[in-house]
Parts: sequence; C-alpha cells; structure tokens
Amino acid sequence: MPAQRVMLDVLKGETASPPPLWMMRQAGRYLPEYRELRKKAGSFLDLCYNPDFAVEVTLQPIRRFGFDASILFSDILVVPHALGRDLRFEEGRGPLMTPITASEIANLDGSNFHHHLKPVYETVKRLRGELPEQTTLIGFCGAPWTLATYMIAGHGTPDQAPSRLFAYREPEAMARLLSKLSDYSARYLIKQIEAGVDVVQIFDSWSGVLDEACFEAFCVRPVAEIVRQVRAVYPDVLIIGFPKGAGNRYSSYREKTGVTGLGLDWTVPLSQAQALQAGGAVQGNLDPLRLVAGGRALSEGVDAILKALGAGPLIFNLGHGITPETPIEHVEAMIRQVRSFSGQ
Ligand code: CP3
Repeated sequence: MPAQRVMLDVLKGETASPPPLWMMRQAGRYLPEYRELRKKAGSFLDLCYNPDFAVEVTLQPIRRFGFDASILFSDILVVPHALGRDLRFEEGRGPLMTPITASEIANLDGSNFHHHLKPVYETVKRLRGELPEQTTLIGFCGAPWTLATYMIAGHGTPDQAPSRLFAYREPEAMARLLSKLSDYSARYLIKQIEAGVDVVQIFDSWSGVLDEACFEAFCVRPVAEIVRQVRAVYPDVLIIGFPKGAGNRYSSYREKTGVTGLGLDWTVPLSQAQALQAGGAVQGNLDPLRLVAGGRALSEGVDAILKALGAGPLIFNLGHGITPETPIEHVEAMIRQVRSFSGQ
C-alpha cells in the first residue's frame, strides 16, 4: 500500500489496514483552539470567508491528531448565500435565513456567485500548499434537497415539514429550485477541484424524511445531475455521497447517482454496510454519542465497525458530525484503537 493519500486508494476499491480515518466536523467547537480563533474572528461566517482563518481552522485537527484527510472549513449554506439569500448564524439556534417564496425562486441571482465564493477557492489553494503530502483534501457541498430545506423553512426543523408541504403545493417551483441548486453546486465543486481538492463529498443530511417518490425526485435526481456535470469536466473525480437516513435506499442511491463512495449514518446495520462494500468504499459509521460517552460504549462501537468492515474498502468516520461536548481524550482513544487495527 503506497503511503501517499491512502484514502484515494480506498475510494478506488482497495483495502487499507488500518483504514484511513477522519471525522465529520473535525474542525469545530470541541477543540479549544477552534473556540479561541472563533472568538477572534467574530461570526462563524467571518471564519468561513476569511482564508487566513479558514486555513488555520482546517489545519487545527490535522496538527493535533494527524488525520488522513482534511475537510475544507466552510458551510453548506454559503451556496444559497452566494445566490443572494441572506444568512446568519445565531449562537444556539444554528442557521437563519429569510424563507424563500415560490416567486423568488425564479429570480435567484447567480451573477455574483463565483466572486462571492472566491475566499473559499483561495482557502482550498492555500490548503493544498500547507497540508502534509499524504493528507487527502476533501471539498464539499450540500445536496440540493438539504439546501432547499433551510432556504424554504428559514431554519432547521426536525422533520422538514415546511419543505415537504412546499413541494406538494408548489411542485414546479420546487423542481426549479432543485435544478438551480444542482447547477450551481456542480459549478462550485468544479471550482473546488480546480483549486486543489482531491475528493468531494455531497452532504444530504435530510434525505431520511422523504417518501419514495420524493426521495427519487429530490435526492437521487439532483445529486445524479451534479455528478454528471462535474464528471463532464473531471471524468475521474472521486465523489462521496452522504444521504443521511437513506436506510435501505443506500444501495440504489449509489447506482443511480454514480457517487463513488457512500457515507453511512450510524443507524445503518453493519451487515448492510458489508453488503454495500461489495459495490465500493463505505465511510462511517460510529454514533457520535459513543464518542461523547467514551469507555466501553466507544471501544465496542469502534471494534464492531473494524471487525465488520475492516477487511474491505473502509474510511473510518463517525455516522454524523462530532458534537461540541465531546472530550478530546475520547477522540484520542478512538484514533489509537483504529490505528492499532491490523486487519486480523
Ligand atoms: O466537517 C467539517 O469540519 C467541515 C466544515 C463543515 C461545517 N458545516 C462547519 C460548521 C461542514 C462540512 C458543514 C456541513 C453542514 N452545515 C451540514 C451538513 C452536515 C450536517 O451536519 O448535517 C449542514 C446541515 C450545515 C448547516 C449548519 N451549519 C447547521 C445546521 C449548523 C448549526 C449546528 C451546529 O453544529 O451549530 C451549522 C454551523 C456550523 N457549521 C458550525 C461548524 C463548525 C458551528 C458554528 C460555530 O462555530 O458556532
């Protein structure tokens, strides 16, 4: 196994022992050095749009833990922001936007799109220069449906009822919104690849709330369209799809969208994950709360994943983002356990 960017080999179907390891939200509030810089920067968006800060924050978990992959520090909602929608992050409330109406969808303004996102592309460029040679750099975007849920409701909701209702009442406006978001997300990913990311991940955090027809129309088709447009420019690009909560639709999701690897949330049974590995790499899927609890809950969870999936193409990760209350010693324990896995 070449030492160079092991995660790329795994995404191409190889097995690595120990598996490559990174964590979703690995740069974030559980790190004291992040909280420190966040105070200096002002708002969360100031961090995202300032390449000095964004590069530094991206590198923090790499310096501390030596993860195999680094994920660009930004947020999925910079895409609607770049299309002229307002966006704020409030402590304890998450993202806040002015809900978009059906008539505003026709007027979404992309004329300033790449200019608005220039600091993100600059961050990627600098990161590739600063990261260790063997560290994979991951770029990302939100999937159209997940972006649409925040744009329509104006904030996070537990079941995305406002967006599901909007879709039933205004099917044409919904289709137009998703199609615009697919086009701009593809352009965004193409620019990130041009600037130096090795892999891209598409986060569909809310794909688990949809019925069969809507899952097909709002998750599968828009993501397939992004993959098609990005591959028209970069035919060999490695793409991880993360349709959180997709359950038994995970397998057809990979086939129909063409993503290379699948991010699995923690509810996916390991037997199902093994079957999915037959079709390509999987990434996941430790419950982030096992990492908060530590001790046996953590070691048993890590062990189960390594035993079930360690003999195939696996990128070890959490099943969703790390939470702010996670003790750093638990992250260190998880890393030691994964790194001591020899494939036996
Ligand atoms: O993974 C990483 O470390 C890269 C950076 C990253 C962030 N958000 C930073 C962030 C990535 C990949 C995201 C993706 C994202 N953002 C998703 C998809 C993944 C998921 O979590 O489901 C979604 C839905 C968002 C939108 C978003 N951004 C929400 C709902 C929130 C509030 C929730 C929270 O954890 O506070 C954010 C804020 C956010 N994005 C923070 C970070 C580090 C916390 C902001 C802070 O420092 O106050």
